[in-house]
Amino acid sequence: MEREYKIRLDIQNISKCFSMENGKNHEVVRELSLTVRDNEFLILLGPGHCGKTVILNMIAGLMQPDYGNICLDGKNVVGPNPDMGMVFQKIGTLPWKNVMENVELGPKMRGIPKRERRKKAQHYIDLVGLHGFEEHLPKHLSGGMKQRVGIARAYANDPQILLLDEPFGQLDAQTRYNMEEEIARIWEQEKRTILFVTNNIEEALMLGDRIILLTECPARVKQVYQVDLPRPRDMMDCRFLQMRREISENTDLSI
Ligand SMILES: Nc1ncnc2c1ncn2[C@@H]1O[C@H](COP(=O)(O)OP(=O)(O)OP(=O)(O)O)[C@@H](O)[C@H]1O
Ligand SMILES: [Mg+2]
Repeated sequence: MEREYKIRLDIQNISKCFSMENGKNHEVVRELSLTVRDNEFLILLGPGHCGKTVILNMIAGLMQPDYGNICLDGKNVVGPNPDMGMVFQKIGTLPWKNVMENVELGPKMRGIPKRERRKKAQHYIDLVGLHGFEEHLPKHLSGGMKQRVGIARAYANDPQILLLDEPFGQLDAQTRYNMEEEIARIWEQEKRTILFVTNNIEEALMLGDRIILLTECPARVKQVYQVDLPRPRDMMDCRFLQMRREISENTDLSI
């Protein structure tokens, strides 16, 4: 029997085309539809330059689709709003602010009193494993630690949906693997609805409840995979390897 899911984010038939300087049009997203369920860890998996960041930007309300609709909890997304918490592809901490100040920035801008926002920020700093680094400036942190700051900052804003744009793409392989384990742990500990973008099949299978496989540019949905593997995921599990092969045979992505 089909299970009933509460839909948080409903994206219907969105398209996006850019006008280029040479007068031509560059179609980046074509009639893309997808839904994100409550507390789901959903993966958008697609090749480089296929339009993944453009899709996230539209969902975050930073860019408008030319056609189609994006609804969060039944309401149209018409502009940037605190319900969407974005962790950007490029590591995005404020270099002149320490870890605590970076994480409490959102609550501070929303006028939350110092005591309360510090408590919240501390909770998320602890959750991402940065306890003891509150006073450190980003330049004194490793790449993985900076991304932890970005994740804590997004959580501290209490968003309805977390949008993570290849957050581990710039990390070395070992750190990336550790961060995948960490984000899975954080998600299990504090359930949120997450939309996570990657171009890495293993990362998608390590993390996702479902994987939306995108085509090359213009991005369309090529296939949806339900990942019913137990957590924590084991890369050597034969069903993991089987799904990895299945997805890689369906795409030009290399892993
Ligand atoms: N504001 C813009 N104006 C014009 N073209 C754009 C704009 N933003 C993105 N593009 C183009 O849209 C295409 C998709 O870009 P996007 O950044 O979404 O790809 P991506 O899938 O996130 O790639 P990557 O894996 O490298 O992050 C690219 O060809 C890019 O040059
Ligand atoms: Mg991108």
